Amino acid sequence: MKTSLKVPFLSLAINDDLKRQKLLDRIDSVLRRGILIDGPEIVELEEKLRIITGRQHALVCSSGTGALYLGYRSLPIPPKSEILMPALSWISTAQSCIMAGHIPKFVDCNENYQMDVKQLAGQITEKTKAIVVVNLCGMMSDIDNILQLCEKHNLYLIEDGSQSFGNRIGMLISGGIGTVSCSSLGAMKAFSGICEGGVVTTNVEEIDRLIRKLRYVGMENKNNSAHISLNFRMDTVNAGCLLEEIDCVEEISDARISLANLYYEKLCNIANYIPKPVITEIPYNFPCRFEKDRELEQFLLKKEIEVKRFSSHYMPGHDSIVDYCSRHNLILPVFSCEKLISETLLLPFHQCITVEQADYVCDSIFDFFKNQ
Ligand SMILES: Cc1ncc(COP(=O)(O)O)c(C=O)c1O
Repeated sequence: MKTSLKVPFLSLAINDDLKRQKLLDRIDSVLRRGILIDGPEIVELEEKLRIITGRQHALVCSSGTGALYLGYRSLPIPPKSEILMPALSWISTAQSCIMAGHIPKFVDCNENYQMDVKQLAGQITEKTKAIVVVNLCGMMSDIDNILQLCEKHNLYLIEDGSQSFGNRIGMLISGGIGTVSCSSLGAMKAFSGICEGGVVTTNVEEIDRLIRKLRYVGMENKNNSAHISLNFRMDTVNAGCLLEEIDCVEEISDARISLANLYYEKLCNIANYIPKPVITEIPYNFPCRFEKDRELEQFLLKKEIEVKRFSSHYMPGHDSIVDYCSRHNLILPVFSCEKLISETLLLPFHQCITVEQADYVCDSIFDFFKNQ
């Protein structure tokens, strides 16, 4: 085994000369044309994303948080509607709901970090108007049963596809599930440009029309704003880079699934939990549970293997949510997933991680347990 090899959790540097040049060419072409806002790249990107997600409409915007805000605002539901969502997600899922004037209600998660459907069913009340599904870490939730619940109780389904965009479950494609699907295309995501970005997709024409206005301060034409909103437009330079990225999707997906396979094959007998790779579910993060996780974490960090924890994904644990709930007399129950999260280590995971680096991570974990 190598004695030392630095393994970053994630690397956003673009070291491939050909890829960097292609991105620079895209940027150059936008700068030379000079249409930096609402350029033709936006229209082309929306058309490609519409086809990828199998939807009738796709609208790009400035971030995943913005996409979610637009998605919540676009639903024909009364203000202060209750919206059920998993307790585990990035805080944007809840914050954009609050900013759109609705009330997030959290549902506990199962062993696989996804919303527990039995508990979800038990939390539906007459005030519930929608359910948000988040496919955390790129692993797909129990969409069939969630869709059935939506149908039975006449609820809207909103997908937050930020960590799973383009993944498949049966005939469904993440980024295209539910009445509105809202995804981040920010730089850390598997499919991303070079800056912040997001996309909303829908099959409902009125929702598409409303979001097009809400996306830019409610403007319905050059002279009139019809709705109160903010500016959520994506810039043309990023749209150009995202178009370039579409050509690399397969390569990125292959690299990520190979890394997941390597980790799984080497660590499945030593980990208490490790996600079994599914070819259609490209991981975003790679969560594992081991004995003595605190000591293991320190051991790996000393070896310059950057493992992380995702306690920040426990939304009810954030001060902003605790404060919101206490101001609105909402009770936050105790969620078992808080314990799950506290025991979870995220292994370095990115398409740029080499086989040598991944082997070093696995060998180091073996090394740790050998000496226990
Ligand atoms: C599940 C989830 N929802 C929403 C977001 C917010 O996306 P953005 O950072 O593009 O605003 C993220 C970002 O990581 C996310 O992981």
